[in-house]
Amino acid sequence: MGSQGSIHLFSPLELRGQRFRNRIGVSPMCQYSAEEGRAADWHLVHLGARAAGGAGLVLVEATAVAPEGRISPHDLGLWEDGQIGPLARIAAFIASQGAVPGIQLAHAGRKAGVARPWDGGARLLPAEGGWVVEAPSPLPFHPGDPEPMALDGPALARVLDAFRAAARRAVTAGFRVVELHAAHGYLLHQFLSPLSNHRGDAFGGSLENRLRFPLQVVAALREAAPDRALFVRVSATDWKEGGWDLPQCVAFAKALKGVGVDLVDVSSGGLAPDASVKVAPGYQVPFAAAIRKEAGIPTAAVGLITGAGQAEAILAEGHADLVLLGREFLRDPHWPLRAARELGAEAPWPPPYLRAK
Ligand SMILES: Cc1cc2nc3c(=O)[nH]c(=O)nc-3n(C[C@H](O)[C@H](O)[C@H](O)COP(=O)(O)O)c2cc1C
Repeated sequence: MGSQGSIHLFSPLELRGQRFRNRIGVSPMCQYSAEEGRAADWHLVHLGARAAGGAGLVLVEATAVAPEGRISPHDLGLWEDGQIGPLARIAAFIASQGAVPGIQLAHAGRKAGVARPWDGGARLLPAEGGWVVEAPSPLPFHPGDPEPMALDGPALARVLDAFRAAARRAVTAGFRVVELHAAHGYLLHQFLSPLSNHRGDAFGGSLENRLRFPLQVVAALREAAPDRALFVRVSATDWKEGGWDLPQCVAFAKALKGVGVDLVDVSSGGLAPDASVKVAPGYQVPFAAAIRKEAGIPTAAVGLITGAGQAEAILAEGHADLVLLGREFLRDPHWPLRAARELGAEAPWPPPYLRAK
């Protein structure tokens, strides 16, 4: 049996005064189960179970800052005050189980307005509940899709305000971590990548220009949630020639550090439907390691992390400060309890479950 102190996965982490009981986080995962953007009982049970299952951090799924920023009509939202209540209940329950409640704020840009995956995921026509989508440039995600509306100056100000207001609502709801979704080909990633950003103004062209709008959003969140841990999820690469890549992402991470971001959550891909991604266990970990080392900022690793020993090694080797699990947490809400047993660590079993320990 290892002692608690020698096991990285179950050692606490502190970021901006927020203490995480261990290094295991539930990766944000859309449940496509909201009505009018409001969290449902499903979200409480789903997220609550994973907090009771021993995670240190539970991140609520991509939550749209504006109705037109939803991936599907069933996404969560925080664009109006009426959406705070059900999320506040969830945040309180997560915290009551000893986990840190966090929420991912998002705008899907040109990838908005599609059916949920189990309804086929196709673009929705206005008659089917779809809407006109907006993006940095009038370039559709799938060739042949309708052109998105390019965001002009007033529209950019509106999106910025929406992010700021949603962050304030997230604070009111009791979330201790606010994560900005700048990955997976959604709006902010669309600004970062030269493949989706063909603007000729101050928000397109050079790397500095492409970082500008995402950094304005980050600064707005930092101001709206000054005492909360601020994470940014990035795609480290588009996996496509001529696209966003690791060196650009390292530059972005350095800038994020400069504006007070506490951790970069490192994913990849999602911008180009024809990208060739080399998927394998832990395939995105080297990106988290490079950003941690080169930008000098804490990182989270995510992507095909399923084993306790695998997760422990990522931390022990200094590749990341936190590991996030997605699909493995859908298979097993009590993964941290199982991992603790495997590694010989003390796990935070909920008292009503102790007879099963
Ligand atoms: C059902 C589902 C929903 C997802 N929704 C989101 C999301 O809302 N935000 C996000 O950044 N990533 C989302 N992802 C990606 C996961 O957070 C995670 O990065 C990805 O699944 C890789 O990790 P894994 O191999 O542990 O599942 C989703 C993944 C799944 C399977």
